[in-house]
Amino acid sequence: MLKALLDIGFLIASVGLIFGLKKQSDPATARAGNLLASYAMLAGIIFALIYPIDVEGSTDPIGYAWIIGSLIIGTIIGYRAAVKVEMTGMPQMVSLFNGLGGLSAVLVGYVELLNLNADVPNFISSASASLFALVVGAIAFSGSILAYLKLDGKLKDSQVAVKGHQYINYALLAITIAMLVVVIMSGANNIMVSILLVISLIYGWSFVAPIGGADMPVVISLLNSFTGLTAAAAGLIYGNQFMILGGILVGASGTILTVLMCNAMNRSLWNVIAGNFAGSGTSAATGPQGTVKEATPSDTGVMMYYSQKVVIIPGYGLAVAQAQQYVKQIYNILTDNDVKVVFGIHPVAGRMPGHMNVLLAEVDIPYEALLDLEEANEELANADIALIIGANDVVNPSAVDDPGSSIYGMPVLEVWKAKNVVVMKRSMASGYAGIENPLFFKPNTSMLFGDAKKTLADLVNELKSM
Ligand code: TAP
Repeated sequence: MLKALLDIGFLIASVGLIFGLKKQSDPATARAGNLLASYAMLAGIIFALIYPIDVEGSTDPIGYAWIIGSLIIGTIIGYRAAVKVEMTGMPQMVSLFNGLGGLSAVLVGYVELLNLNADVPNFISSASASLFALVVGAIAFSGSILAYLKLDGKLKDSQVAVKGHQYINYALLAITIAMLVVVIMSGANNIMVSILLVISLIYGWSFVAPIGGADMPVVISLLNSFTGLTAAAAGLIYGNQFMILGGILVGASGTILTVLMCNAMNRSLWNVIAGNFAGSGTSAATGPQGTVKEATPSDTGVMMYYSQKVVIIPGYGLAVAQAQQYVKQIYNILTDNDVKVVFGIHPVAGRMPGHMNVLLAEVDIPYEALLDLEEANEELANADIALIIGANDVVNPSAVDDPGSSIYGMPVLEVWKAKNVVVMKRSMASGYAGIENPLFFKPNTSMLFGDAKKTLADLVNELKSM
């Protein structure tokens, strides 16, 4: 009876996970979706803990003391980390937590393999889920830890990768697969399993080593999908459908996110993994392409105040400057003056998925003012001003009209179609893709140079004085 009730509980929790995930795809419902999925996961954990298991001769077959002790320690550390983390530190935290998920899968796979008797009738099918959890979990663990160290600036690309690193990775992948065969042939011999674990850890680290630090969000999403699949494998090991479903959801959504990010950058996953991109984001633009007009906060303020429609394009520079509070003030002043203000959100603006949505949600910009790429392009076609704050690649016209450009084909915000374009950035330096932006030289574009925090504060003062 208890088992039947718990099975129904698992089913309801699974539905909660699915709907929670669905709600997370819209900024207006994302918070509720996150909470729903968290409660569903908590319910699933509780159901799993009380699910009756018949093990003879043990008073504590499940090892409650260990589980509850670990849960308490993990909850305290996780809660404190989540409360303390800055928005800009989110990618690091995600990769660290993802790495720990991979480590859990490694522990499950390792223990199961050591306990597996090579004489069981269908050894390979019994061992396969554990081997998968061990190898892929180890790759996700060491890869995520390296991603964390790179993102946090503790290690540089040049310290971990060498020229032609891809060839080392091919060799390591071949050795890992060969070792996997050896482990199966040896009937999961303990020493062989341990060697396989060490090689998988080395491969995970080396896999991430040559990937440019700024490409890390794509890799983290990929590693996240690996960890999801290892959780599904752990579900297979323990015959827990809720865990299988949760793992598959994480695996599938991580894969979809990886593909979406690659598409939004018009790059193949292989291109990201091979580390073939400029990606430094610091190189200056190469050679002038014409003259550049400069704007002042005063001209920009007047233009905006007397406009009918303003489209604001936030980018990575806004996140760096942490000037979103001023953006909210500009939004309030202009909308009070009956100017229509909307925000064009490019899917890969910033450095992590949803970066701009989160930044603007922090200052309570209404969700309905946030437009996705297609909607924003429709608005831009008849906007009076496109105000670009610290964005560069996502507004680069080369993506549309220069087949020789490395970003050609990437969908961009077509800001140049607005009557006037004002670009706020500190210099003529390029963005993440490391390429020149012809937008800066267009006749309807003016540049408002300076740190976005300072220039936006000046703009707010100008608008207030009108
Ligand atoms: P970027 O092209 O990187 O340009 C950001 C611009 O902000 C820079 O040109 C920089 O110019 C300016 N800036 C930096 N700090 C500033 C500050 N304090 N004040 C004012 N301006 C500042 O950014 P984007 O347009 O948002 O495009 C994102 C790029 O990241 C894309 O190429 C995308 O493919 C890539 N990417 C995104 C993701 C995700 S998931 N979002 C993941 C990986 C890669 P100055 O130095 O002259 O100020």
